[in-house]
Amino acid sequence: MTAPTTAPARARTHPDWWQDAVIYQVYPRSFADSDGDGCGDLAGIRSRLGYLRELGVDALWISPFYTSPQADGGYDVADYRAVDPVYGTVGDADALITDAHALGLRVIVDVVPNHCSDQHPWFLQALREGSGSPLRARFHFRPGRGPGGEEPPNDWISLFGGPAWTRTTDPDGTPGEWYLHLFAPQQPDLNWDSTAVRDEFRSILRFWLDLGVDGFRIDVAHGLVKAPGLPDLGRHEQLGLLGEQLVPYFDQDGVHEIYRSWRTLLEEYPGQRIAVAEAWTKTLDRTARYVRPGELHQAFNFKFLNAPWDADGLRELIALSLASMHAVDAPTTWTLSNHDVIRHASRYAEGDPARGLRRARAAALLMLALPGSAYLYQGEELGLPEVTDIPDEVRQDPAFHRSDGGHGLRDGCRVPLPWSGTGAPYGFGPVPGGPAWLPQPAEWAELSVEAQTGDPRSVLELYRSALHVRRSNPALGAGRSVEWLDLAPGVLAFRRDSEAGALVCTVNTTGEPVRIAGGGLGALLLSSAEPQPAQSSGQVLLAADSTSWWQAG
Ligand code: GLC
Repeated sequence: MTAPTTAPARARTHPDWWQDAVIYQVYPRSFADSDGDGCGDLAGIRSRLGYLRELGVDALWISPFYTSPQADGGYDVADYRAVDPVYGTVGDADALITDAHALGLRVIVDVVPNHCSDQHPWFLQALREGSGSPLRARFHFRPGRGPGGEEPPNDWISLFGGPAWTRTTDPDGTPGEWYLHLFAPQQPDLNWDSTAVRDEFRSILRFWLDLGVDGFRIDVAHGLVKAPGLPDLGRHEQLGLLGEQLVPYFDQDGVHEIYRSWRTLLEEYPGQRIAVAEAWTKTLDRTARYVRPGELHQAFNFKFLNAPWDADGLRELIALSLASMHAVDAPTTWTLSNHDVIRHASRYAEGDPARGLRRARAAALLMLALPGSAYLYQGEELGLPEVTDIPDEVRQDPAFHRSDGGHGLRDGCRVPLPWSGTGAPYGFGPVPGGPAWLPQPAEWAELSVEAQTGDPRSVLELYRSALHVRRSNPALGAGRSVEWLDLAPGVLAFRRDSEAGALVCTVNTTGEPVRIAGGGLGALLLSSAEPQPAQSSGQVLLAADSTSWWQAG
């Protein structure tokens, strides 16, 4: 594998840039800490933009950095137009966006419309004013059921554990109404039947668009509208963090009208501002509804993220994904990891970390060879594994504490990044031996950006090479379809054609090397395998759990 030179900047001028963009998720708390308080911040991100530019991504998506009590890592927003002091100021956000643009990188920010923080001024005032306050119409306040209203208004369970309702106390000290929170009690759900809520979010979108952001990742995009009357679920078990079951609070048809209005708003701005939905749906057809003409640009393909490492299953899923999105004339948006799921190097390991890493490398090259856009999660380019031994007392995932440790292990994918050096915090903060909000494993010295840079066998150099090749080869990413090839059992293979030439991608999903006929494969462009596969007498040996890209004739 040859070390890449810096990939050409493309994103700021590319038409329809988002259709095949590679977008890097920054979880700001864990990315880079400029002031040594143990928490990442906007100045830290700004100082590392050169790294992202050189990595070769087109854009960053930054998870919430707004004013927040941090009951759910910033997904509990108290002021949507202000930056939390932990992360900096609006001026820092402005400077970050300006610098990113100067480097050819776009910036997407999170918008959290399903719920706000219980410290949001609207909610605080609604509580202060008591039952009957008109402000309560902006939330889901209800009287309780049973004698004295002691039972919650319905049987919904919070996705973080426990009832989805919390009872309030009226200003005179008597027990009052209940309010709905699909997530933590500190995250009251907003009522999207309220015109004030709809107007407020359009104004929030404008605030950040005016500051120059290139788009939004919409948190819990499938949750905004609840079934009329908030009907009982009829079940009492806790559903998964973001389950895919049909429930009266997710994927209701009414959400689409909201996104049509947001699309109209985005179109008012120059330069193709976009929105991507975090919408966990039962089927890919339901996901496709979020990206119909006139709605959002992208919706994460979580079926791909959850797919087992198996050639036949992956082929079926990829074909179905492409077909479902093609039916609404939209590209597919691939992703393998984010801040809510077990890192894929560990997910794929099945008890063997080396296997997990091989598959993670292979999966990255598979994803980056598919038509459409791809989202990377910070640290996957370093091959970081999930951290499983975080002490209970430093865990911060609210679901962990609400479920007595049975759920809510998301801190394991949020451990601060290792940048350099041999001791914690590995360059995450400015001071050697300084703090990091979650402990970093000692083994991470070997996984730091510094340790991997220039090592052709490293995951980081694999990602750099892959993104560089993808930039210079339009057959990767572009288009809407693939031509499947049947090469050998357990080997997923497809061909991509473009004006600039054809490319074949082979993915050996088996734990054994597989020999295939090399005719038609052409020259090797890049492989996740080490050592790189060699061709001899027309035969190619595909290493176990590896993906290779071939320049086909
Ligand atoms: C989304 C976020 C997750 C958060 C939840 C509630 O799923 O990705 O981190 O906990 O919404 O806001």
